[in-house]
Amino acid sequence: MKVAAALIATLTLVASTVMAGPNPVVINKRVFQTDKVPFIPHSTGLFANWVGLNIDFRYVRHVFNEVNTTHALGNGTLISRGESHITVILPTEYDQILHPAGVTIEELNHLATTDKNSMNRLQRADFGLECLGRVQMVTKADGVFQQSLQLILKNYQDLILFREDVFKLFVSKGGNPALFDPENFKPHITLGYRHRDLHVEDGVYKGKNACIRQVVAR
Ligand SMILES: *[C@@H]1O[C@H](CO)[C@@H](O)[C@H](O)[C@H]1NC(C)=O
Ligand SMILES: *[C@@H]1O[C@H](CO)[C@@H](O)[C@H](O)[C@H]1NC(C)=O
Repeated sequence: MKVAAALIATLTLVASTVMAGPNPVVINKRVFQTDKVPFIPHSTGLFANWVGLNIDFRYVRHVFNEVNTTHALGNGTLISRGESHITVILPTEYDQILHPAGVTIEELNHLATTDKNSMNRLQRADFGLECLGRVQMVTKADGVFQQSLQLILKNYQDLILFREDVFKLFVSKGGNPALFDPENFKPHITLGYRHRDLHVEDGVYKGKNACIRQVVAR
């Protein structure tokens, strides 16, 4: 009886520990007030044309610092870009798919900043944070261990709607609809990385699959 009671007590303890989990990463909920920072156009050449939602780095810097100094999260020190954003149209989508069909970066920037009802449409987008994510792999070409950490998004319907308008523009110019899927992207806020960032071209997916820690915004 005693043994059984001790076993049950132990199992209860284990279960509650698992459910409580390690400390979540906390972020200031003002990070969602992206309409308070300007839209930044990115249009300076090959691999440099893309569309992003600018995020106030003041609310992201301490999350980077925590990840950079917590081994269980960052697994060593990381490089920071010193800014934060959500890429909404990738450089590869622009260079390889949209631009060859005649879509210009100016048209995309116009779509991002103009709307029937409001100015600065993209900066006004609503989104939520799913978790802290981490992707890791040994890259084939050089055999180097790479890793990248990011805040992974959820509830980003506004971003999908923007991409749907980009899709309509692309198709109206004769673009092949098979080549651009508004819903096929994994929006995130990059925090830092080991040597270089990892991308879908490397074969990594920055979705729920990559979650390592809960994020709480308050
Ligand atoms: C931590 O990084 C090293 C490379 O420096 C890697 O070999 C190892 O798998 C990583 N471990 C975890 C738990 O991420
Ligand atoms: C990350 O942490 C290391 C070790 O504490 C530190 O030297 C480095 O400056 C930090 N990186 C940034 C970008 O703050």
